[in-house]
Amino acid sequence: MTFSDTPIDAAAAERLNEHGLRLGLVDTSDAVAFTAWLQADARGFYGPQTARREIDEQLTGTAYRRTTGVWDDTTPDASTPVATVSSWPTPLTVPGVGTVSSWAISSVTVAPTHRRRGIARALLESELRTAASLRIPLAVLTVSESTIYGRYGFAPAAMAAELTIDTRRARFTGPEASGRLHFVSLERLREQGREVMDRARLRAPGEIQLDDHLWDRLVGTAGDPKKESPQRRVVRYDDADGIAQGFVVYRVTEGEPDFTQHTVVVEYLLAATDEAYAALWRYLLEMDLVSTVSAPLRSVDEPLLWQVSDVRAVRRVPTDHLWARILDVPAALSARSYGAPGRIALDVSDPLGLAAGRFLLEIDAHGVAEVTPLAGNADLPADAAGLALTVNELAALYLGGTSAHTLLRAGRLTEFTSGAADAVAASFRSATAPWLSTWF
Ligand SMILES: CC(C)(COP(=O)(O)OP(=O)(O)OC[C@H]1O[C@@H](n2cnc3c(N)ncnc32)[C@H](O)[C@@H]1OP(=O)(O)O)[C@@H](O)C(=O)NCCC(=O)NCCS
Repeated sequence: MTFSDTPIDAAAAERLNEHGLRLGLVDTSDAVAFTAWLQADARGFYGPQTARREIDEQLTGTAYRRTTGVWDDTTPDASTPVATVSSWPTPLTVPGVGTVSSWAISSVTVAPTHRRRGIARALLESELRTAASLRIPLAVLTVSESTIYGRYGFAPAAMAAELTIDTRRARFTGPEASGRLHFVSLERLREQGREVMDRARLRAPGEIQLDDHLWDRLVGTAGDPKKESPQRRVVRYDDADGIAQGFVVYRVTEGEPDFTQHTVVVEYLLAATDEAYAALWRYLLEMDLVSTVSAPLRSVDEPLLWQVSDVRAVRRVPTDHLWARILDVPAALSARSYGAPGRIALDVSDPLGLAAGRFLLEIDAHGVAEVTPLAGNADLPADAAGLALTVNELAALYLGGTSAHTLLRAGRLTEFTSGAADAVAASFRSATAPWLSTWF
């Protein structure tokens, strides 16, 4: 048995059954059943009927995922699910250049005909209990609505920023790179970029490993008509030894009225080294006849801000992007490394009961933590920096992008010992701002 055919969660199935609904797994080798599920997923996100080519790509690219549906056998089209969710384990980069196994959740939809009957709650709770039963320490997702997931213990763990750069003001002042830039085809990017991506994703906590489907979608070869613009261009950076270290995928929009006002939309910029990063940004900012470079989903702490002559030429709009939910406190907290040694005691509450308890973190001089659950309602050790928090705040702190000091000021934490939030802030902070560069 693997993660994809682990039996469905009995409690959620029973709750839905009481409402005449059936929770089950889709056999993804059954093309008819899987196609109905894929069409229900697209419909749930208000998309058009998915075209054959895209369906074919997903039938192979996502077949390995755990694919769950809810069916209402009383509807005329009973073979199409009224709700969908999919999930799979994926390595998530954590502070300290390591990874932890995380449970990626996607395709959360409930048909508009069946909304507000508790279907989403049953699906989410069943996903979290399934991941916990598989001993996966945390769940992650990207959200189209930010109001839904807090109630299940998720919180934003990595932000992203939309950048709009006025290239007439933002002269590039970063270092010169010693390598070369080349135009390459999307197919070449598809073949070669994955290896670069696998190195680049380890450079920021919050990045996940992309599966075939996510990679093809990112590159634009997944059959998604929205991504098939003939205007897409790909430039690759090779270092002085001729090794590919980065790519940028972009398109140039019309430059009316006099051809000098083109906008470059950066669809994806991937850099495995700082040199590749500087070379690709220099290329974008120095293109002739371009007045604006727009780049969605960038880090909130881009080195680029320190590589332009006028920092105000880069407008930034930050937003929540990666949401995380801790399921196993000792496993999650001991998987990352820490910025300062310390003794920290956490009293974690969790309405779903999955991660609740008291824990002691002992962080050594190398930033390695040993995490011990404390028995029952044992008092927190008096010599430790003690905090009480919900599982949501723990997720917000986990990748080091939000300071415990900020959460204390927001009234979202309680200190057992004075100065505990500052001690936690010093240990949990990440040298690199957490960032997820894609959607899933
Ligand atoms: C969002 C969606 C999945 C909710 O499904 P649902 O079955 O109607 O949700 P439920 O009945 O289980 O409600 C669960 C809880 O979420 C709340 N909720 C549901 N939709 C919400 C929304 N859009 N905004 C805020 N709260 C919402 C409910 O009030 C309920 O709260 P409670 O449990 O604290 O009482 C569904 O409306 C949908 O498919 N929307 C379009 C696709 C989408 O946005 N998916 C989310 C992808 S990130």
